[in-house]
Amino acid sequence: MDKILILDFGGQYSMLIARRVRAEQVYAEIKAYSKITPLEIKENGYKGIIFTGGPNSVYDTASPHYDPAILDAGIPILGICYGAQLMAYMAGGTIGSAEDGSEYGKTTVFTQDNILFKEVARESICWMSHTDLVEIPPDGFSVIAHTEKCPCAAICDNDRKLYGVQFHPEVTHTDYGRQILCNFIFSICGCKADWKTENFIENSIKKYREKLAGKKVLLALSGGVDSSVAAVLLHRAIGKNLICVFVDHGLLRKGEGDFVQETLGTQLGINLIRVNAQDRFLNKLAGITDPEQKRKIIGEEFVRVFEDEAQKLGKIDVLAQGTIYPDVIESGKGDSAVIKSHHNVGGLPSNIRFEEIVEPLADLFKDEVRNTGIKLKIPHELIWRQPFPGPGLAVRIIGQITKEKLELLRDADAVFRQEIEKAELNKSINQYFAVLTDLRSVGVMGDFRTYGYTVVLRAVTTDDFMTAEWAKIPYDVLEKAGSRITNEIKGIGRVVYDITSKPPATVEWE
Ligand code: XMP
Repeated sequence: MDKILILDFGGQYSMLIARRVRAEQVYAEIKAYSKITPLEIKENGYKGIIFTGGPNSVYDTASPHYDPAILDAGIPILGICYGAQLMAYMAGGTIGSAEDGSEYGKTTVFTQDNILFKEVARESICWMSHTDLVEIPPDGFSVIAHTEKCPCAAICDNDRKLYGVQFHPEVTHTDYGRQILCNFIFSICGCKADWKTENFIENSIKKYREKLAGKKVLLALSGGVDSSVAAVLLHRAIGKNLICVFVDHGLLRKGEGDFVQETLGTQLGINLIRVNAQDRFLNKLAGITDPEQKRKIIGEEFVRVFEDEAQKLGKIDVLAQGTIYPDVIESGKGDSAVIKSHHNVGGLPSNIRFEEIVEPLADLFKDEVRNTGIKLKIPHELIWRQPFPGPGLAVRIIGQITKEKLELLRDADAVFRQEIEKAELNKSINQYFAVLTDLRSVGVMGDFRTYGYTVVLRAVTTDDFMTAEWAKIPYDVLEKAGSRITNEIKGIGRVVYDITSKPPATVEWE
């Protein structure tokens, strides 16, 4: 399989670049520039390298630099933004920081005849975001594009197959961005489009059938997309030797536990053990109100329950996990402030010994995981489930968690979801759910005073959940959901809609 290396210099679009390349069915992997040497790059057989952007200036001594030997490795390189400046700098060019040279946003770019710009209009719109720029290209390089403020908007050394663009071909605002990336990966690097879901499935099944022959494999199934796809893939490879443990912590949405058991266990025939651990979790959570403490308790208890269950199964050789590529990349990155102790409930069980851990989806982005699931014939309902936090409804109940509050929230959430789905808004809204506050207020029903809880409806649109917009749900849908909740659910007296985006809020309330 042909591979492109995305050499990451700290740019915000590194993952996007990899996704764009993979969208053309060419495998791309991201490596931090500090974690791979030119020798390793050569040995890995990459067909091409993309240097990403980054927030620095090449003249900062602390900015990322790279071994110039890479330019002579005989592998085609495309530098983007900082990546282009760095390439030019390494090859002996001059980088400047013109006072009025910075460009931000949509900019007209004029390109010249070059393989990188095959089938690209000579005048088009590109996306710029820079202060520094290449002032004098290195020897052997020529200028192949310019903008009004940027004389060297693209440079190249055709003989060595080195290319640099100051703009961002990976963002959709660049009219011919896709064409430029395709020109690089296909015409310049000569890649074949062979990164296909069908091949991935076939190769994985073959690989795990051999690797795990005769072994007992345990997988903690949450019912989320990733662990479900991992389970079905491994089930295809090793059948009943895969044992999935589904810990039902009692913090799931209405009907969810049964749905997971029915789809994965009954319909798809996976060896599935459902552990009903509701009471264990509720006991541990009794009296706890602090969000971080809730998450910690749930995470720890999850591991304990899982361990207890695994002990009953006797010797287990391998632990399987539904880790996906963004998790792998994120865990290799620096330490940003902890806003919430996200994302995976649990961590690794410490009392059980495994020979090894397998992560069959560790190379896939989320959309690739979904495509894999669809090809594996997992029902759409499961593949397109909205994200659900590991700690479940515990972080959607403000204050103490009780059985009664869980029931109230489950019912309110189910009504809201039904109304969103009836209005066919579920395809355009990325996440929608109800939150139960700890606040009660006075109301009137018939001739009686009521004193019920306040439910919050929350719905957001987002690309990546790092930022999110509150969803502009039509009033009549909100009205229907609100009136059904107060009429049908005894104990809820008021319904409000959350109109806060992220930031400053987060998607969840805790
Ligand atoms: P926040 O609240 O951080 O949520 O804006 C962003 C996305 O992450 C989900 N989320 C979690 N997922 N474990 C998870 O697996 C967690 O502890 C967790 N907390 C938040 C949230 O539902 C949203 O999709």
